Amino acid sequence: MRIGVYQNCPRFGEVDYNVEQALRDLETTEADLIVMPELFNTGYQFISRREVEDLAEEVPSGKTSQALLGLSRDKKMFVVFGLAERHGEKFYNSAAVVGPKGFVGIYRKVHLFSEEKTLFDRADTGFQVFDLGFARIGVMICFDWIFPESARVLALLGADIICHPANLVLPHCQKAMVTRSLENGIFSATANRIGVESRGHKGALTFTGESQILDNAGRTLTRLGPHEAGVAVADIAAQRARNK
Ligand code: ACM
Repeated sequence: MRIGVYQNCPRFGEVDYNVEQALRDLETTEADLIVMPELFNTGYQFISRREVEDLAEEVPSGKTSQALLGLSRDKKMFVVFGLAERHGEKFYNSAAVVGPKGFVGIYRKVHLFSEEKTLFDRADTGFQVFDLGFARIGVMICFDWIFPESARVLALLGADIICHPANLVLPHCQKAMVTRSLENGIFSATANRIGVESRGHKGALTFTGESQILDNAGRTLTRLGPHEAGVAVADIAAQRARNK
């Protein structure tokens, strides 16, 4: 099977622009599964809960999910993407999984990073593994990487591949994921973003790019540059993750 990571530089708050850009960028990609960054459609640096409430969308009825369901159907590929999710009165930093036959499921970020704790609600899904038929995928979001238990739980739940939407601002994640893949015998696909955001009174955040796909022995199969937008793909035998 072929998996891919998408790396973008969203314009904050310009959901239509960011989604259309992603659809264009993925138009010619041939893959079974694509992982997109955390909050890929809105950007990262919300300055108030009110902004989250204004930009959050229901899943899968919201416009971003609907656009990616269309892509999924047209291209016959599964897509994992990060977005601000509205669910009733709650707002989550979430990653949705969609496929050619429709909505598959949602994961809500367990380890909220820094000010995210004032912007989003505490997650209630726990770590999730989804069986896509050709592979079982586990989903975690960005800062979950720093806690070895996140990847461990996904491996124990039977994941072959960790799908990891991210907006990384700290160093070390890309290297730490080598260990996460190696110690768990599991593939991983970290989809990060690039660029800088500095909104309101907040300090600038620089996102580190270098989205990567690792095999179940921690070897790098492909990696994008720190400033490069685009897609990187790798052919993998996901079942190899079942032989520990
Ligand atoms: C992060 O969790 N987006 C740093």
